[in-house]
Amino acid sequence: MQGPLHQLSMTVLMTPDTANFSGNVHGGTLLKLLDQAAYACASRYAGRYVVTLSVDQVTFRQPVHVGELVTLLASVNHTGRTSMEVGIKVIAEDIRSQSVRHVNSCFFTMVAVDDDRQPAAVPPLLPATPEERRRHAAALVRKEMRVELERRFKALRAEPAADAGG
Ligand SMILES: CC(C)(COP(=O)(O)OP(=O)(O)OC[C@H]1O[C@@H](n2cnc3c(N)ncnc32)[C@H](O)[C@@H]1OP(=O)(O)O)[C@@H](O)C(=O)NCCC(=O)NCCS
Repeated sequence: MQGPLHQLSMTVLMTPDTANFSGNVHGGTLLKLLDQAAYACASRYAGRYVVTLSVDQVTFRQPVHVGELVTLLASVNHTGRTSMEVGIKVIAEDIRSQSVRHVNSCFFTMVAVDDDRQPAAVPPLLPATPEERRRHAAALVRKEMRVELERRFKALRAEPAADAGG
């Protein structure tokens, strides 16, 4: 396979069976492709099976049309001990006009697992280029934000509900 071990691209033709009731590509089709690209990228990098721990907010800013080519550009941005952040940029290409547009980007956290399904260490990612260093730094900020978000939601759940008083 070509390219560095921490990056891969997947191109898929949007065939008519991917359509939703309005004739555009179903959001679930793209979510499945995103998860597959995240899996392929993280497992190839780690040399192990991986599981999806979380997906950050996914926003579809514009529809993807049946007949278009969708390319998912996936990259391991950051590694912890056993977890990896994979960023995916989705590009849609209209075959006849040859116009290309950025449909969305999102971030998956994948965890490498051993044969007993226990978290297993991954090779540390050493960002080499300015672009990789930028992605690495941004991933670290997102990781901190995820921890903070989880902490706040936990605190909210621990609070007694406002209308629960007697
Ligand atoms: C992912 C999974 C193996 C982690 O198990 P765990 O017992 O929490 O393992 P650990 O505590 O060792 O954590 C493993 C990694 O996940 C990270 N992690 C676990 N829970 C987390 C959370 N709530 N938020 C952020 N990171 C988390 C840890 O930080 C650690 O990363 P690091 O080694 O890079 O620091 C386990 O949660 C799991 O199996 N989840 C289901 C995955 C799955 O089936 N996905 C598909 C759903 S259909």
